[in-house]
Amino acid sequence: MIDKWFRKNKVDRSSIDDRVNELKKRGVPAHVAIIMDGNGRWAKRRALPRVAGHREGMNTIKRTTKIASALGVEAITLYAFSTENWKRPRKEVEFLMKLPKELLHTYLPELIEQNVRVEMIGHREGLPAHTLESIDYAIEQTKQNDGLILNFAMNYGGRAELLEATKAVAKKVAAGDYSVDAIDESLFERELMTTHLPDPDLLIRTSGEVRLSNFLLWQLAYAEFIFTDVLWPDFTEAHFLDAVEEFQRRDRRFGSVEGKAHI
Ligand code: FPP
Repeated sequence: MIDKWFRKNKVDRSSIDDRVNELKKRGVPAHVAIIMDGNGRWAKRRALPRVAGHREGMNTIKRTTKIASALGVEAITLYAFSTENWKRPRKEVEFLMKLPKELLHTYLPELIEQNVRVEMIGHREGLPAHTLESIDYAIEQTKQNDGLILNFAMNYGGRAELLEATKAVAKKVAAGDYSVDAIDESLFERELMTTHLPDPDLLIRTSGEVRLSNFLLWQLAYAEFIFTDVLWPDFTEAHFLDAVEEFQRRDRRFGSVEGKAHI
């Protein structure tokens, strides 16, 4: 199945395979968060309309899903539309809202074949019905799959998520479900949209921008950050493997001194 996909997409299977096998021997990130940036610039450099970059970016989603699955990553969360993206020109927003249908309509059989489970985080309110319908259909059709979770962040904002979680906790305190003193990290995390996922170990942002843009503010507390100049439509399997390789070189200490030379 995987062979067929790599052949169809003209990927040099042998070198990718070797690298995947090598990387799997060391720790692979369980959850990779990705800020897919640079679609507009990719299009501009080709004198194409910005939306052509978004369309091309969907091929990168397919490549990334495939290689993350091959590596045994548990989940990838893709920042597809932020709460701030509504400020873009109306035509671009309308185009972006149609992308889930465009992508999932043709891609769903492949996702099912690859045992991928589609999920979404973000505020449903405000998203057009047709956008939600396409995503909900994909979620429903893949809910039995137990391979990679392909999690789309749509109309998502980290601060809004934290406020919502805080309100949910406050309501439970007011209702007497638990006391203020009982509030700890694990209780708070139960109110986040990612409550069923491990925190991302790795954040990748393409296109040379070096900021978080309100993405997974709580969840990325201990993630390794990798920023690459490559524009999202140009991001390949090899770039993803490069990022994982770099992740494996990092010395993750979670605030302790383990691995540090003792003085
Ligand atoms: C950032 O590039 C990209 C986005 C805001 C949208 C990305 C969305 C997709 C690739 C498809 C989403 C698909 C589904 C199914 C939800 P940019 O426009 O900010 O690029 P620029 O910084 O070069 O202008």
